[in-house]
Amino acid sequence: MELFDTALRIDAPGPSGVPMVNNFRLIRDSARFLLARIRPYDQPVVPVTAGNGSVVVVRGRDGVRQVFTDNTAFHRADGLFDLPPGRPWSGMFDAIITANGAEHTRRRKLLMPAVHRTAMAHYREVFADTFARSRFAAPGGDPFDLKQECLRISKTNLMRCLLGFDDDASLGPFADRIVTLGTTAADPRVLLFRRDLPWSPYGRWLHRVAAAYDELAALIAGRRAADPRPDALSILCHAVDEDGDRLSTEEIAGELHGFFAAGFETTAMTLSLALITLLGSPDPAASPVEVTTEDDLSAVLKESQRLLPAVPITLPRRVTTTVEIAGSPPVPKGALLFMAPLLEHRDPLVYPSPQAFRPQRWRAGEPAPRQYEFIPFGLGPRRCLGAEFADLQVRTTLSLMLERGLPGLVRPRVDYGMVNGVTAGPQRPVPVHADRPRWTVLTGSITEVWKPAA
Ligand code: HEM
Repeated sequence: MELFDTALRIDAPGPSGVPMVNNFRLIRDSARFLLARIRPYDQPVVPVTAGNGSVVVVRGRDGVRQVFTDNTAFHRADGLFDLPPGRPWSGMFDAIITANGAEHTRRRKLLMPAVHRTAMAHYREVFADTFARSRFAAPGGDPFDLKQECLRISKTNLMRCLLGFDDDASLGPFADRIVTLGTTAADPRVLLFRRDLPWSPYGRWLHRVAAAYDELAALIAGRRAADPRPDALSILCHAVDEDGDRLSTEEIAGELHGFFAAGFETTAMTLSLALITLLGSPDPAASPVEVTTEDDLSAVLKESQRLLPAVPITLPRRVTTTVEIAGSPPVPKGALLFMAPLLEHRDPLVYPSPQAFRPQRWRAGEPAPRQYEFIPFGLGPRRCLGAEFADLQVRTTLSLMLERGLPGLVRPRVDYGMVNGVTAGPQRPVPVHADRPRWTVLTGSITEVWKPAA
């Protein structure tokens, strides 16, 4: 199936423009497009271009709940990263994240042990050790980039917890080879011109997919032959469900790739953004947030995920049958559909002063958002599989950082925006000094989404 069918129609107002151009703008620069072009339309379904049914954004709790709970009318989008069939690596983009129906349920069941409570105890120890080895924990030294260090922490934790690597020298390049498969796939030259020729961008990309598969397959073979260990790869190699079903080598390779694609930058940016909310504010009248208890930390983390979500827009779904969403005009079969945590988290009826950073809104006794009104990890049967892993990682790292003493920003500018196709975070380096704490009045484009309380 083509990515967008611009011949589709929907009888609903939306932004003006050329459908193909608007669709790519939404995908390449989601945060900006959502805030500038979609937010003015307060209706259950907003076409990305007025009257055009190729890509739509669902708004409001009722529509969000309908989509998150109906896996029949809304499929995880197909046709995005289809690989040529019949090769060992053809399944590198087939994972729970792209599966639908019974195959999705099967994979979810077989993957669960890797993120089960019992696995988390080991992961927590790794998170603490990775922090202890990070530049945030080292005394003295020169300023460094907060964002790069959070990326390094997240990558190291994925390699150690998922693959069981503990060798810093091979960690980075191997992880990069896996992670960049997905980000380069979103390059329009790869996405749109699928000619498998040695010199074409698509052909070169396929070559890298095959090489990454070979590396993963060798790792899987080694782990299958060895005794069980606490890393997720070993857990998946030895996991069997009650019917004796297990994941094949191709399936495990696809899932590992999916975990890296879904879990690396998302976690790093969530950590970066939460940390930034502890180091300063765009409001000159604000003062540093006091964090002394776990509840305080929880409130800061939730409020940073609400105001500055690392995933401003969910993964796309394909509409499988023409359907009304929360009373909308019919959304045509074939439409590509998104939901937007960035917009849902800014509904003034749910979050008074939505543009202000107010951790106290998450305290007991304050009006709490209802289910489907706070969706940093999505919800329902397709809720993020790594949510507990990511949450534990961010909490463990932040609380160790608070214990050690927070770093200070070297300069005030922070820009919030897309750092790849799906993840938002600081768009430029954010230099900090580990031993010079100093609360800062922030400048930069973060001030367009985070404003002083009215
Ligand atoms: C703070 C970091 C993270 C955020 C904000 C995040 C957010 C999300 C969101 C919004 C979805 C899509 C929900 C939907 O469209 O219905 C998702 C799905 C998913 N995420 Fe995460 N994620 C994070 C970390 C991770 C990690 C660390 C992993 C794995 C190690 C992971 C694995 C997945 C998978 C496998 C899915 C697809 C689940 C399914 O379709 O059943 N994520 N995530």
